[in-house]
Amino acid sequence: MRRAMAEAEVGDDVYAEDPTVLELQERVAAMFGHEAALFTPTGSMANVLAVAALVGPGQEVLCEARAHILRAELGAHGALTGITSRTWSDEHGQVDLEAVEGMYAPDMGPFFVRTTAVSVENTHNFAGGTVLPIGDLQRLRSWADTTDCAVHVDGARIWNAHVATGVAFEDYGSIADTLAVCLSKGLGAPVGSLMIGSAEQVAEARVRRKRMGGGMRQVGVLAAAGLHALEHNLDRLAEDHEHARLLAQACGADPNLTETNIVVVDVPDAAAVVAAAREEGVLVGAVGPTKVRMLTHLDVSRPEVEQAAKVLGKIVGG
Ligand SMILES: Cc1ncc(COP(=O)(O)O)c(C=O)c1O
Repeated sequence: MRRAMAEAEVGDDVYAEDPTVLELQERVAAMFGHEAALFTPTGSMANVLAVAALVGPGQEVLCEARAHILRAELGAHGALTGITSRTWSDEHGQVDLEAVEGMYAPDMGPFFVRTTAVSVENTHNFAGGTVLPIGDLQRLRSWADTTDCAVHVDGARIWNAHVATGVAFEDYGSIADTLAVCLSKGLGAPVGSLMIGSAEQVAEARVRRKRMGGGMRQVGVLAAAGLHALEHNLDRLAEDHEHARLLAQACGADPNLTETNIVVVDVPDAAAVVAAAREEGVLVGAVGPTKVRMLTHLDVSRPEVEQAAKVLGKIVGG
């Protein structure tokens, strides 16, 4: 990856003249069967640009209560693009179409906030890397097609969903008006995400990205890392999933509920578990006072996972 970065051909991407960025954007848009894509420094920015393409100031997006766009982007969507939101709750981060139908508010005149998009997260981070079944997504799409409501997919880890289920990227793309995907998570690129949509949406997002200070210059060095990641690090995500199941088992969680590379376990005191694990060289994170989250990725080898499982088994597994 470092060699690919060093050898990348570059140009000025603010003028859309960086050939490596253009190649990455074209490749990723085509993978998902969409017209265009835009390289962004982060998944958060890709989400903000995508949701802003669908939801205007004062309008609303519906999403699951622990969605990353609401909980973990520091309020960017409200603060930067003026949108509002309402949520449904599902323990496993799944789509609740009945709740969506109940909440959906079309243009109802001069009082009510208008719903213009539903956002779903696949895989769902804080629910523990859960996969959204393609059937549920297709039902959401079919419903959306009967309304003026668009669908955004926060697919930061859609690669993991694909590897876990075998569902084609095009099928995931076909249920979405816009997507955000990250190269910098399990795929192992140092930086980089993409907002995906129609040519018009992406042209608009390019303007917003610049306005937000996200116009980058000779950034082909980073796009090259993304291209390398897509070519070399996709299939190996299955190993991360197996490693996550080992961790789940060690922590007394049901490994069958661990579908991808994230494990979230309930503990009495998350901060204490994080500190105790760190003492023994294992890094895990607290995602609530009683919830600890663990992730596996390409920089954690099998022996390291086995060691982490031993340590976490002692601390969490009892
Ligand atoms: C589901 C999801 N969406 C978006 C993001 C944002 O990505 P970034 O950290 O690159 O802003 C994350 C980050 O963890 C995520 O888990």
